[in-house]
Amino acid sequence: MAGIELRQISKEFGNTQVLREIEIDIRRGEFLTLVGPSGCGKSTLLRILAGLEQPDRGSVHIDGREVTGVAPAERNLAMVFQSYALYPHLSVAQNMMTPLVLRDLSARERWPLLGPLISRAKRRDIAGQVREVAETLQIDHLLPRKPGQLSGGQRQRVALGRAMVRQPLAFLMDEPLSNLDAALRVHMRAELSQLHRRLGTTFVYVTHDQTEALTMSDRMAVMMEGKILQIGPPDDIYRDPDTLEVARFVGSPRINLLPGEIASGGAVTVLDHALGFALPGPAGPVQIGLRPEHLRPDPGGSIEGCIVHLENLGAEVHLHLAIEGQEEPVIVRLAPEQAQGLMLGTRHAFSVDPGRVLIFGADGMRLRRGAAQPVPARELA
Ligand SMILES: Nc1ncnc2c1ncn2[C@@H]1O[C@H](COP(=O)(O)OP(=O)(O)OP(=O)(O)O)[C@@H](O)[C@H]1O
Ligand SMILES: [Mg+2]
Repeated sequence: MAGIELRQISKEFGNTQVLREIEIDIRRGEFLTLVGPSGCGKSTLLRILAGLEQPDRGSVHIDGREVTGVAPAERNLAMVFQSYALYPHLSVAQNMMTPLVLRDLSARERWPLLGPLISRAKRRDIAGQVREVAETLQIDHLLPRKPGQLSGGQRQRVALGRAMVRQPLAFLMDEPLSNLDAALRVHMRAELSQLHRRLGTTFVYVTHDQTEALTMSDRMAVMMEGKILQIGPPDDIYRDPDTLEVARFVGSPRINLLPGEIASGGAVTVLDHALGFALPGPAGPVQIGLRPEHLRPDPGGSIEGCIVHLENLGAEVHLHLAIEGQEEPVIVRLAPEQAQGLMLGTRHAFSVDPGRVLIFGADGMRLRRGAAQPVPARELA
């Protein structure tokens, strides 16, 4: 297990600044996810951590030791990629034992061919370790096969197994599930989480998929344009985002954003309706963020519109509500019982839970209510 520190990491490719003063403390045994849109610098940061890329500025520390200039092989980290990078001509067992065999041989010995150089006892030992890992991953029955004879999920498990036999200080994974179909991805998500709990090893996991980040991580770092916008447990990131960008990035369906206002007395309105609480701070226009699950059918509610689209997902229903003057429909997520009688093409009103409303200033920063107490709407009028 390793604690990993990234200190003030900056990286440029040509004239493009790809990473800007990244600062993260990854705790021992933690499952940390780097998540953000394509091109935000996630893979570059992971590669710097692995030693495959050098930062222009800043340093990397593992267990208190600076490793910034240290070669990848000396860091004892295992990297698992999206493309499983298995040797097609070797069996699963041989693929999995390669890291152990290589570790045993000096660079000069590696060339001719691995097998004959290793003593029989050593080989038995290695085979034992491989079998143990294969059993953990439930791929022991696949050991004699070639990668070409495996499904995508099985190949992913072999790649993981190959990383595991080395017993690394930490696993670094770059979008390891993105080649799998949707159902298998969900299944492997659960498997990876269980594996992490069982091994107790540090996992640093890169994905552009916010659902993966929300479901698997102990903490997630939301990255955009080479910066970390916010880092914290998934629940905090979802419920308590610092900025509009973070609020928009996490959550599916996306968060609804509607125009609002803070009056000079602090009363907050959405679409000119009072929300029933005051917010100290500068008066002016704000954006009101409402998660789809925080809207409820209510004839007296402040959000009113026409249902223009209805998605029934079985366990939940998503309503798309067109509101006058708003380009984007408001999405409401309801249990099927709550959606009864709400028909396509009809008008309905919805109320919001004032305790869940997220408010963002003109600069996109979150305005927090802090210690201010909610004030009944009639007192604000
Ligand atoms: N070797 C390179 N030379 C020049 N530019 C590069 C190089 N590697 C990456 N970049 C650029 O750096 C930026 C960050 O790339 P990176 O691969 O880290 O993004 P990412 O967040 O992993 O994206 P994705 O989700 O698409 O994998 C991108 O704009 C990319 O084009
Ligand atoms: Mg990438």
